[in-house]
Amino acid sequence: MIRVDNLTMRFGGIRAIDDCSLNFAAGRITGLIGPNGAGKSTLFDVVAGGLVPTAGTVRLEGEDVTRLPAFARYRRGLHRTFQIAREFARLTVRENLMVAARGQSGEALAAALFKPGHVREEERAHRERACEVMDFLALTPLADAPAGTLSGGQKKLLELGRALMSPARIILLDEIGAGVNPTLLAQIAGHIRMLNEEGMTFAVIEHDMDFIAGLCDPVIVMAEGRVLVQGPMAEVRADRAVVEAYFGSAA
Ligand SMILES: Nc1ncnc2c1ncn2[C@@H]1O[C@H](COP(=O)(O)OP(=O)(O)OP(=O)(O)O)[C@@H](O)[C@H]1O
Ligand SMILES: [Mg+2]
Repeated sequence: MIRVDNLTMRFGGIRAIDDCSLNFAAGRITGLIGPNGAGKSTLFDVVAGGLVPTAGTVRLEGEDVTRLPAFARYRRGLHRTFQIAREFARLTVRENLMVAARGQSGEALAAALFKPGHVREEERAHRERACEVMDFLALTPLADAPAGTLSGGQKKLLELGRALMSPARIILLDEIGAGVNPTLLAQIAGHIRMLNEEGMTFAVIEHDMDFIAGLCDPVIVMAEGRVLVQGPMAEVRADRAVVEAYFGSAA
């Protein structure tokens, strides 16, 4: 579904991604792990269209999208979440979901002001979809709570909810589980699995190895901007280069 070839992303003297090639296969939940600074989030930035790479290509279902803006990739079914949740603190959970659908569908200001029929129609559809998403994620009791009052874990759930408001067929999750309590984390894993069974493709960055092991196949290990190893978690975990990347050569 996503394929990157010979990707390099340089920030001044830093090569955050260094001639990296990999793919996220359709229908899979691919795990992306690696030590801090390995280039994982930068890879998501380049894939989603937040950054134009120094070199290399990004393909979405075979189409070269390297120079396509983020919103155009979004329309083609690619959605990403951010490592730091980006909710609108003063909007309610419901409003945050509705904004997620509207904000990226390219609604013009004038259309929003005058609300012709099709905009109202669209808004009704978004409202209904927001209800479905809140039901699915068990966020309905928080529908009218300002997002700023949610716990860290609930904000992560809202991030997933925002992804589900989009026309996504592939979702890139950047540390959706970070700082989330174990009960909620298990719920999030369950949601991801269920969505995957319905056909959603995922790429998941996470530092929690058990979360990755229980959810992802294959797992790609990045270090210093490159792919170190990839395969099923059991193989990856046992790999000597992986152990060294995480714990140093002393291990
Ligand atoms: N906008 C930027 N400007 C300069 N350097 C950057 C920028 N974004 C990332 N980097 C650098 O690129 C490298 C890769 O960073 P990145 O955030 O992709 O790592 P990561 O694998 O997501 O790490 P973590 O697990 O800590 O989130 C790091 O050295 C980082 O400091
Ligand atoms: Mg990161």
